[in-house]
Amino acid sequence: MQIKPFRIEQFFGKYEFAAKYLLSSSDAESRTIQELLELEAGSQKRLLAHWCGYTESPGAPALREVISGIYAGIKPDEVLVVSAAEEGIFILYHALLSPGDHVIVETPCYESALEVARSTGARVSEWRRCYENNWAHDLAALEQLLQPNTRVIYINTPHNPTGLLMPAGIFQHVIALAASRGIIVFCDEVYRELEHDSASRLPAACEVYERAVSLGSMSKTYGLPGLRLGWLVSRDANILQRCLEFKYYTTICSSAPSEFLTALALRHRDVLVKRNREIVLRNLALLDAFLRQRSNLFDWVKPNASPIGFVRYKLDRDVFAFCEDVVRVAGVLLLPGNVYDQPRHIRFGYGRKNMPEALAQFGAYLDLHS
Ligand SMILES: Cc1ncc(COP(=O)(O)O)c(C=O)c1O
Repeated sequence: MQIKPFRIEQFFGKYEFAAKYLLSSSDAESRTIQELLELEAGSQKRLLAHWCGYTESPGAPALREVISGIYAGIKPDEVLVVSAAEEGIFILYHALLSPGDHVIVETPCYESALEVARSTGARVSEWRRCYENNWAHDLAALEQLLQPNTRVIYINTPHNPTGLLMPAGIFQHVIALAASRGIIVFCDEVYRELEHDSASRLPAACEVYERAVSLGSMSKTYGLPGLRLGWLVSRDANILQRCLEFKYYTTICSSAPSEFLTALALRHRDVLVKRNREIVLRNLALLDAFLRQRSNLFDWVKPNASPIGFVRYKLDRDVFAFCEDVVRVAGVLLLPGNVYDQPRHIRFGYGRKNMPEALAQFGAYLDLHS
């Protein structure tokens, strides 16, 4: 298997645990294990008594049950637990694609959605969106990309890096197009439930199309990436079975303590989502005002979901070098758009409690250096 370096994770790997202020994280504020246990009386005792052996490969039954409850009309055996979304992406592509297949990937995107697809030997086409077009989805362009051997279409809503929801009409059209040709829709929904207005939430792809697979995770909306727990959901038993067969070669089963804590957290996901949405909405207003005040430097399509947004940097300056300077001088971590092949953009994250402080530090840097 040939695979390119993962530039997003390389950049974070270099700076994330050294930088004082994180202003580009894609996850919402986390919490301690103790805070999780405080959500449910008696849970600490139960965690300490929890058996630490292998668990069922498709996921512990109690966990599959609670995950299925996130979705309308989904049964526990339509859920496959994975060790975070990253494993879900890896096993789905490798289980379903081979050389000779064609896959369409919405871009820009979280890098593994594109590179893991390429690593299977399948031919990959990008369904490109761009800032100049307000990140609109060009349905005619999507139709032109279709091939007789198109097997999977990957979409991501709410979207990394723009923080934008796919408009409902576009979503329905993509599903209808895929359904008319029996193409699998792989829908990355790791930011679902963090729509800024919950009334704008789309149905999960797995709810509306039998050959869709929804990808979920504890990492983003719920702010618990340390659990390394995610899931694939589909009503197509054959797709899930093939993914399970592949999972035997990656992790066999997920971590027993993580499964316990995930089930607990999801039983209280309204509490997690409420707090994180409050943080996100407060910070988004601050960030939007900050960018407007500096409209000589920045512009964006304001996000309507998730804790991230993609900001256009207007100066004719190397964005990668700019972000490296900001983290070295001010200790503020931004993510240069180069890692998404978007070298005029910077990804911001506004899901953390201390974001106002990070923003103030970045503002002070700009006052001194521009
Ligand atoms: C769109 C998207 N999908 C998947 C992932 C991987 O998430 P996880 O931490 O659950 O592996 C990320 C992480 O940034 C992401 O942004």
